[in-house]
Amino acid sequence: MSYNNILVETQNLICKITINRPDKLNALNKATIEELSKAFKEAEKSKEVGVIILTGSGEKSFVAGADIKEFADFSTPQGKELSAKGHETLFNLVESLTTPVIAAVNGFALGGGLELAMCSHIRIASSNARMGLPEVSLGVIPGYGGTQRLAQLIGRGKAFELIFTAGMMDAETALKWGLVNEVVEQADLMATCEKMASKILNNSPNAISAAIRCVNSNYQDGVNGYEVEIEEFGKCFGTEEFKEGTQAFLEKRKPNFRK
Ligand code: COA
Repeated sequence: MSYNNILVETQNLICKITINRPDKLNALNKATIEELSKAFKEAEKSKEVGVIILTGSGEKSFVAGADIKEFADFSTPQGKELSAKGHETLFNLVESLTTPVIAAVNGFALGGGLELAMCSHIRIASSNARMGLPEVSLGVIPGYGGTQRLAQLIGRGKAFELIFTAGMMDAETALKWGLVNEVVEQADLMATCEKMASKILNNSPNAISAAIRCVNSNYQDGVNGYEVEIEEFGKCFGTEEFKEGTQAFLEKRKPNFRK
């Protein structure tokens, strides 16, 4: 499939999705959100993809937020629709994708950009990255899950501080607060993400998908995560991958989950 705002490249089971509007610091307009949604769905379906790495084009920005120009004259119903559609089309989709997503945060991750990084399963940042939810400086609030996921990741007090001040957190502070998993020099960012992807690729894709469902279930209303875990644990026993994993251990060899 060809896209105008993103680049998609798959090699060795790793699909790299790059948001490619560097002159606008990769701001998320409607078209980009739709293309990302399609690309994530395609990648999830593909047997050629085991891990997705999401990044921004250029050395300055991951994503500098939702495209302000696009919503500057929106009314209340349009604002609500923008948020609802974003949640459904992209942010909830990424969070519940059954293929692991690593966000390679290569610069500014602001507003919708940080929200996109936060719905990814893992975040690795370059040392120049700066993260924040500056929406209140525009008279609006984070609308792509930021008020929920930031508090989940760094705690309510620090989330309130970042949102109220519209400030930017540097990469080291983000690491300290658990907003990102690792910080590396920009030149090493992609290699570090690929190394982590390779470790993930050694393991059972089915079990990893089940783990995503279980961890996410803790954040869903009315869902008991322990119950989900019991169900998912049981289901694993019915898979070829479980047979292969346990057999390989007993035979003292490496498992091959991708036969
Ligand atoms: N929406 C639309 N366009 C954006 C954008 C956004 N969120 N963020 C950056 N851009 C555009 C700028 O308008 C500019 O375009 P132009 O050259 O056509 O004028 C271009 O990207 C470069 O940005 P610029 O502001 O000149 O870069 P900078 O290095 O001076 O500042 C930032 C970088 C990230 C601090 C600044 O761009 C910024 O504050 N962006 C908005 C962040 C934000 O509030 N995001 C939340 C949105 S809800």
